[in-house]
Amino acid sequence: MTVTVRAPAKINLHLGVGPGRPDGYHQLATVYQAIGVYDDVTATAADTWSVTVTVAGDLDVSDVPLDEHNIAIRAGRELCAHHGVDLCARLDIAKSIPVAGGLAGGSADAAAALVALDRLWDLRTPDDDLLAIAGRLGSDVPFALVGGTAYGTGRGELVEPVTDRGEWWWVVVPNAAGLSTAAVYAQYDALGLGEHLRAPEGLFTALADARPEALAAELHNDLEPAALQLRPDLLETRAEITQSGGFAALLSGSGPTWLALADGAEHARDIATELGRTHPVVLCAPGPVAGAHVVTYA
Ligand code: C5P
Repeated sequence: MTVTVRAPAKINLHLGVGPGRPDGYHQLATVYQAIGVYDDVTATAADTWSVTVTVAGDLDVSDVPLDEHNIAIRAGRELCAHHGVDLCARLDIAKSIPVAGGLAGGSADAAAALVALDRLWDLRTPDDDLLAIAGRLGSDVPFALVGGTAYGTGRGELVEPVTDRGEWWWVVVPNAAGLSTAAVYAQYDALGLGEHLRAPEGLFTALADARPEALAAELHNDLEPAALQLRPDLLETRAEITQSGGFAALLSGSGPTWLALADGAEHARDIATELGRTHPVVLCAPGPVAGAHVVTYA
């Protein structure tokens, strides 16, 4: 028997980063949105753990571990530990989410693996338990389970839904060279920017009102100065997005992927055509979309 689960990439419409915590993480006030770029994880019963990664197109997956360090296998082991069972599986990951791009591709794989293995083994893990296991695996993993648009607090692992009446379109501009999340947070600390966190009330209003111009004015990422210090080349892409007619250029999470907010699907395609002249990969994606969900069960 096999189960395939699809999980979305995330972007942060607001990423407020507080000072570092004693555990090495940072307190966050963030608004996540799941967008229509997905990884699929297929789980098959097996006697030992194994993982494969395949890609459509040009994506570089050379940095994705193919051993027990892969976050999908770690997810499987955490699920077993939670239930006190000793089971194994083969996990085949079909990747479309750029690696180390600030789009939480690894978190999507972990969330998809949790749901796929829960179904494969018929464990019927309660949602709250699944969210707790997800939070131990990574700050963004619980959001990959719930999807939609959500407010994230704690280190990002505590998520609650946000009213979002928009049908947003994003142009996603990945960068060939990934950026380490930990390195960007360390640079943020070095800049001494950790400020008092606040809930982004203006963004909540813009999401409820579903107006792209209003949303564009509220998009914000505290990590942008740190990422730009580490990678000044990213400034050029930001300028290109601004010139392409996108409503706003937003760095996705810790980068290096940039996002342009568009005024609907057609506008997104126009911007993508323009940016495609200088960037090998440009994606158009709607948001919000569903979190991890079963697509085949056979
Ligand atoms: O939780 P996750 O494994 O995705 O985090 C990766 C790294 O990003 C952490 O090791 C930490 O350096 C940094 N991080 C942070 N504060 C957060 C989330 C991530 O400092 N809230």
